[in-house]
Amino acid sequence: MLNIALPKGRLGEKVYRMFAEAGFRCPSIEEENRKLTFESPENGVRYFWVKPSDVSVYVERGAADIGVCGRDILLEYVPDIYELLDLKTGICRMAVAGSVGFRDDHRRTLRVATKFSRIAADYYASLGRDIDIIHLNGSIELAPILGLSDVIVDIVETGTTLKENGLHELETIVPVSARLIANKASYAFRQDMILNIRNGLEKQIGGSKQ
Ligand code: PRP
Repeated sequence: MLNIALPKGRLGEKVYRMFAEAGFRCPSIEEENRKLTFESPENGVRYFWVKPSDVSVYVERGAADIGVCGRDILLEYVPDIYELLDLKTGICRMAVAGSVGFRDDHRRTLRVATKFSRIAADYYASLGRDIDIIHLNGSIELAPILGLSDVIVDIVETGTTLKENGLHELETIVPVSARLIANKASYAFRQDMILNIRNGLEKQIGGSKQ
């Protein structure tokens, strides 16, 4: 069976439906329960739900043959995997945001709170801007509100979280969408099955709305 790591949550459910439509249904995953692994021997697949930021770890190390994760994860962790397809869903962007009225004072080091330290460091290095990264694990929007940072680098989808917290987008760093990725050895040895899934998913693109 081919092991497939899906990101737990809304994106994963959307993406599973694309796999199902592509011919890789797994009835047990559609039942409400707290299980993490689901097998469909008829279709030759075993799915498992993992934390979105862990998908690339499972795939890089071969615990999963293929998986789906956001481009943000690939840019942040730079895993040694093959990127096979842009699924054109889970569309959002990596952006810099700050309080309404924030003005960057270039004489000072900019304090940047983020979960995406590498993306933030690369972005500001490309601008030649000196920054101090404050690495957080969630609720990043709190940092500028409480004066912990000047700005944040985070995912923006609808912009609602920013708006409801008195923040706004200052700069877009990079567009993000879900990507199908493969372990390199798995791709070499199980290419037919992997390409079969890839091509089936490609046909679903556009059918699965955001
Ligand atoms: C992400 C991101 C923002 C929010 C943006 O958080 O960190 O907080 O979504 O979405 P919006 O623009 O549609 O409001 P997520 O829900 O993934 O959880 P997190 O707090 O763990 O990052």
